Amino acid sequence: MASLKTTELNAVQEAARDQFARQSHRYAKGHILQDVSDVAAAVAQINLPARAQILDVATGAGNTGLYLAGLGHDVTLADIARPMLDRALEAASARGLTVKVQEHPAEKFPNASATFDLVTCRVAAHHFSAPEEFVSESARVLKPGGSLLIIDGSIQDGAPEAEEWIHQVEKLRDPSHHRFLTPGQWSRLCERAGLKVVFSKLTPFKQPDLDWYFETAATSLENRAAVLKLIENAPESARRIFGLTLEEGRIVWWLERLALIARKG
Ligand SMILES: C[S@@+](CC[C@H](N)C(=O)[O-])C[C@H]1O[C@@H](n2cnc3c(N)ncnc32)[C@H](O)[C@@H]1O
Repeated sequence: MASLKTTELNAVQEAARDQFARQSHRYAKGHILQDVSDVAAAVAQINLPARAQILDVATGAGNTGLYLAGLGHDVTLADIARPMLDRALEAASARGLTVKVQEHPAEKFPNASATFDLVTCRVAAHHFSAPEEFVSESARVLKPGGSLLIIDGSIQDGAPEAEEWIHQVEKLRDPSHHRFLTPGQWSRLCERAGLKVVFSKLTPFKQPDLDWYFETAATSLENRAAVLKLIENAPESARRIFGLTLEEGRIVWWLERLALIARKG
């Protein structure tokens, strides 16, 4: 299995690795990310060979990669946190699927150029220290005609106040959070790496319960209190864009989730 030494990781990568190594048990059965209908809808738009070579970057418990392996594709799961890869391998074996795994940061892949028909990355890129390196590495390992699928938390372009608010909330909840990028920022990174954006759509995704939101990230009590303060004092733009409200006594809001497909010419 390919891996990079700890000393080669920067502080942002180390924070993500440590956070997910600690929290890997929370990503097992019953986790909200097991609903891969967003992946299915996006992949339905991509023309893949019958047995495509696929790299799933920051695979977590493997939900995206294992869905694709279940369709008969040849899938490699990559992650920076070894315990997450262990969870993914357990899930693969429970489903009778065979996959390869590799342990490395999303900013540098150990694979040869022009290897994959599809690179996927779902609900993870907001942790990356250098999303531009992730995109250029994806472009490098894609075969001509191959596609990059990014699904991640995002926020519409042109809303800096609301973006700063959600950034502070997410950072307090999980200090390994780095930044959500807007559709425009992702598109520019793809185009700079020589990829053509063929699909880009924001879909609201409900944050259903603040306790669940904190529990999955093991948020400290101090940070929970700080998030509650931010919610209390949220600017009007954030209230409107995230639909911040109370439902049966529970604080809920809607994060935007971006699905973006970019193709290598
Ligand atoms: C929420 S989980 C991913 C969910 C998964 N992709 C799915 O579809 O269910 C986020 C994952 O990103 C990984 N991660 C965070 N930063 C990373 C980085 N710089 N390089 C590689 N993996 C990273 C974490 O270790 C964690 O397993």
